[in-house]
Amino acid sequence: MMKKMTVNTIKKSKNTTPLTMITAYDALFANLFNDIADIILIGDSLNMSFAGHNDTLSATLDQMIYHTNAVCKGAPNTFTICDMPFGTYTCKTNALDNAIRVFQETTADSIKIEGGDDKAEIIKHLVDNGIAVCGHIGLLPQSVRGEGGYLVKGKDDASIKQLLRDAKAVEDAGAFCMVIEGVKADVATQIAQSVSIPVVGIGAGNGVDGQVLVFSDMLGLFEAFTPKFVKKYLNGAELVKDAVTQYKKEVISKEFPDEIHTY
Ligand code: KIV
Repeated sequence: MMKKMTVNTIKKSKNTTPLTMITAYDALFANLFNDIADIILIGDSLNMSFAGHNDTLSATLDQMIYHTNAVCKGAPNTFTICDMPFGTYTCKTNALDNAIRVFQETTADSIKIEGGDDKAEIIKHLVDNGIAVCGHIGLLPQSVRGEGGYLVKGKDDASIKQLLRDAKAVEDAGAFCMVIEGVKADVATQIAQSVSIPVVGIGAGNGVDGQVLVFSDMLGLFEAFTPKFVKKYLNGAELVKDAVTQYKKEVISKEFPDEIHTY
């Protein structure tokens, strides 16, 4: 059995073994990832891959709490991060009230909020009040409508300087680690080297301190679209459809249930 990580061991992992983070939304999959992944993120990406919406914005705190409880049940040995959904951390007061709900109503080990230097004061307020915070800089899925698309960051000098400011501000505010999403690999490497807490990448190359992938993408279960950075480790959709097609055939032919599956 793997030893469950803590905010301290996660911080200390910098410049050692890269962190393996994966999303999960329910106890079933979380249990499969328990004892393998270092960190499970209950990402608001569940609003797309689990609930079928076009973006993450309509995920609610109640939904995140429901899914976080399921994941924590399924993966008791794994450090968990609950994503704070859109609109739940617009100021210090609502951020703390909502983060306290997550800590009181689930056993999540930490929460994640999107944003850089613009969210530093909020992160500090949360940390000062006993909430472990993972930052999220670079491409911010919750800003998709505000920015008019999923925009890769770090493509010019101004964007690189902003990322450096964001990473420093998130670190100084007391976050124990941060996700960096959709950033050119050389820039993400530079960002990771500029701070002393782990920087976990998604679509950010391999010069960072760990990787995170959405489980339904990496298992090939989500078919709507596949971002360039996703590696499919399994043809999940194909395997599931083949299995259900075979089941249907056997129901029609009455091959199933056969003798060994009958009382
Ligand atoms: O919601 C999510 O799954 C995330 C990852 C893309 C990092 O935030």
